Amino acid sequence: MSDPYWNHDVHYHRAVLTAVPQGCRAALDVGCGDGLLARKLADRAGSVTGVDRSPDMIRLARQETPPNVTFVEGDYLDTAALPAAAYDFVSAVAVVHHTVFEDAVAALERLLTPGGRLMIVGLAYDRTFTDWVISGCGMPASRLRALLKGGKRGPAGMPLEDPNMHWTQIREAASHLLPGCSFRRRLLWRYTLVWDKPRRGGP
Ligand SMILES: C[S@@+](CC[C@H](N)C(=O)[O-])C[C@H]1O[C@@H](n2cnc3c(N)ncnc32)[C@H](O)[C@@H]1O
Repeated sequence: MSDPYWNHDVHYHRAVLTAVPQGCRAALDVGCGDGLLARKLADRAGSVTGVDRSPDMIRLARQETPPNVTFVEGDYLDTAALPAAAYDFVSAVAVVHHTVFEDAVAALERLLTPGGRLMIVGLAYDRTFTDWVISGCGMPASRLRALLKGGKRGPAGMPLEDPNMHWTQIREAASHLLPGCSFRRRLLWRYTLVWDKPRRGGP
């Protein structure tokens, strides 16, 4: 099934889907927007919840809801909004920079079952010369992709924020808060971070 539109977040959906653990019972997509990724996750998990604090986005998401997907209007930082330790897989695409990174990570970790997997696709800003060079390399790749995908960017009204940390800050904070995580800076101005929550009494 082809995507109805393309942007730099949708580009990394495939990486998210690949990270879903085998036998995933419950998945959660945080900051689900119009629900595109949550619908894709429906084939990989017993049940999927998409949560977003924007009523407009949730209204859009609910226009197409597969039987094993639920869309919740709420704030994932609010402990009353979602059950703790309930999800084998949690994805957060282009959303953690909408708040303080440490708070976002603590909230996401709380939602995971012991042994569950977290996947963040995030944004950071350039600070060093090397940062700018790497970001510059993304330009032709992005242009080509957009051309191939018909230049469609995404739903109108999606709440957006600028990144609030630079690449080095994100990398350091991630390795401190999520020891053992795998962190990759990607070409299209995104990083991916995968972390497995330790099981009780050991990894
Ligand atoms: C840039 S959009 C990304 C949407 C979607 N993940 C994607 O990749 O297309 C960020 C979304 O996160 C949502 N969001 C931001 N902070 C949130 C929070 N604390 N709780 C729930 N949703 C949040 C916004 O409403 C917005 O829909």
